[in-house]
Amino acid sequence: MSEPRTLPSARAFYDEVGGAPTFARLVSRFYAGVRTDPVLAPLYPQDDWDGAETRLRMFLEQYWGGPTTYSDQRGHPRLRMRHAPFAIGVAERDAWLFHMREAVDSLELPPEHDATLWGYLEMAARSMQNRWPDD
Ligand code: HEM
Repeated sequence: MSEPRTLPSARAFYDEVGGAPTFARLVSRFYAGVRTDPVLAPLYPQDDWDGAETRLRMFLEQYWGGPTTYSDQRGHPRLRMRHAPFAIGVAERDAWLFHMREAVDSLELPPEHDATLWGYLEMAARSMQNRWPDD
């Protein structure tokens, strides 16, 4: 799959959903769930939860047309490569999506924006899976 990239039309989406505060709420809620998840929590850097939250927030802001701070600090996203050290099977993918669904719900976005955001997150989570039952 090709890497996620910023679409020319994405700026409007970033602004329409409320800009930086909306993405901050999204990832804050998401990580509150991840930190307590028995499947996911062990994968994350236990001494750098704030850093992990910042990296995901910056990436999502950039993807949806906000500031490009992510790439300024981290370079090209190369997300599949950056996830290679973590074993992400169906359980991990579904747990990630479970907490992200709760986080998206908490934003109470208009239905069309909710659907746009969720469609991307589902696709991206599937593309990050790197372990399959027959492996
Ligand atoms: C980083 C797990 C899906 C975006 C990470 C990290 C873990 C992880 C353990 C390291 C935390 C850190 O130090 O930053 C997972 C799991 C997923 C998943 C289990 C389940 C499918 C996704 C998806 C996206 C994403 C769908 C994008 C929409 C990121 C970003 C980083 C990251 C931007 C930081 C990369 C960096 O700059 O180092 N993920 N992830 N992840 N993840 Fe995921």
